[in-house]
Parts: sequence; C-alpha cells; structure tokens
Amino acid sequence: MINKSFVPFPTLETNRLLLRLVEDSDVEQLYEVLSDAEVAKFDYFHPLTSIEQALKFIARFKNELEENEEITWGIILKETNQLIGTCNMGSFDDGARRAEIGYDIAQSKWGKGYATEALGAVIEYGFTTMNLNRIEATITPGNDASVKVLKKLNFVHEGIVRERDLIKGKLEDGIMMSILKRDYEIIK
Ligand SMILES: CC(C)(COP(=O)(O)OP(=O)(O)OC[C@H]1O[C@@H](n2cnc3c(N)ncnc32)[C@H](O)[C@@H]1OP(=O)(O)O)[C@@H](O)C(=O)NCCC(=O)NCCS
Repeated sequence: MINKSFVPFPTLETNRLLLRLVEDSDVEQLYEVLSDAEVAKFDYFHPLTSIEQALKFIARFKNELEENEEITWGIILKETNQLIGTCNMGSFDDGARRAEIGYDIAQSKWGKGYATEALGAVIEYGFTTMNLNRIEATITPGNDASVKVLKKLNFVHEGIVRERDLIKGKLEDGIMMSILKRDYEIIK
C-alpha cells in the first residue's frame, strides 16, 4: 500500500528550495506563474486571467489534499521567500504503488535547475516515505525542457501514449516517462 498520510503536511527542503503547502497568501505569486501563456502552453489549463482563478487553484489543491487525491507543493526560493512554482503528485494507484507527477516553474526562473532540484526531493519522498514503486509523467510532445528535466532525474522514455490528454480542448499524445524504485535505489 501507499502511505498517503499528508497530515501534517510533508514540507520538503533542498539546498535552495522549500516545498510547502500553498497558502491563500501565495495567491499573487501563484497568479504570476500560472497567468503566463508560456507556462500554460503544454498544460490542460488556459493562462489565468484573474486573482480569483488563482484562489480557486489554491482551494482545489487543499481539497485534493484532504481527499488524498493529489498533493501539491509550493516551490519557495529560500533566498527570497518567493513562490516560484508548484509541483504535485497524484493519480495514485494504491495496489500498484504508482503515482504521476506534474510541475510548473515561473518563466523568469527557468534554466536554473529549480525543477530538477524540487522534483528530486518529491521523488525521494515518493520512494522512501510513500513506498511508491513507480513514478510516471506524461509530457506533451514538443515540451523538450520537461523531457530534459526528467532525463536528468533518470526517468526512462517508454513511448508515446496516443491521444491521452485533453489539452485546451484537443486530445494530445503523451510521451510516457517513468522511474521505478529499483532504478532509484541503484542511482541514489
Ligand atoms: C519544464 C520546466 C518545469 C523546467 O523548469 P526549469 O526549472 O527550467 O528546469 P531545470 O532548470 O531544472 O532544467 C531544464 C533543462 O532543460 C533544458 N532546456 C530548456 N529549454 C529547452 C528546450 N527548449 N529544449 C531542450 N532542453 C531545454 C535546460 O537547458 C535544462 O537542462 P540543463 O540543466 O542540462 O541545462 C519549465 O520549463 C516550465 O515550467 N515549463 C512550463 C510548464 C511545464 O511544461 N511543465 C511540465 C508539464 S509535463
């Protein structure tokens, strides 16, 4: 079984980042991240156009956490105490001990290794504390930066899943990538 005890909230820490619960007080920084068309480009949502929409995202994160459906961490840059993105783990399969990850970083912070650093902590949490066997991600073809992040984290490219995700009203193929606990144990 997967350990999904998210109370108290599992705050994670890396060299430069704190991964913590997203609070209502983060709304303006979250809006800045998710209102950017480049950030939303390969995702299911349209760029946000109001603070109210960002507040609804935060309410959804809390609701999904309470229902044990998905956990979303705010990615905080320790140096400035600023929220620079989010990452999440969900689509849990208790029997197969599987989960899927997602992530968004503010465009102004791209290319500094923050996604790789944050997801490294999430993956460690998934395999050690949650007892997962498989962590997967599906990436829309063309999202080369996302594929690069996962390759740096030793995810394996498994193939194309056809018309898997509804991205802004259009069914898109997904690049399926995963890491297994046994891969992780060899490399860590
Ligand atoms: C994907 C994303 C999270 C990466 O965040 P990041 O903090 O810039 O990632 P990192 O800095 O850890 O690593 C990015 C790597 O991709 C590389 N990269 C960036 N753009 C690239 C591109 N167009 N093609 C190939 N590689 C690219 C970077 O050079 C870096 O590799 P390096 O460390 O070897 O130089 C960020 O671009 C983002 O938020 N995109 C929009 C949301 C999104 O697509 N989320 C993922 C959904 S599956």
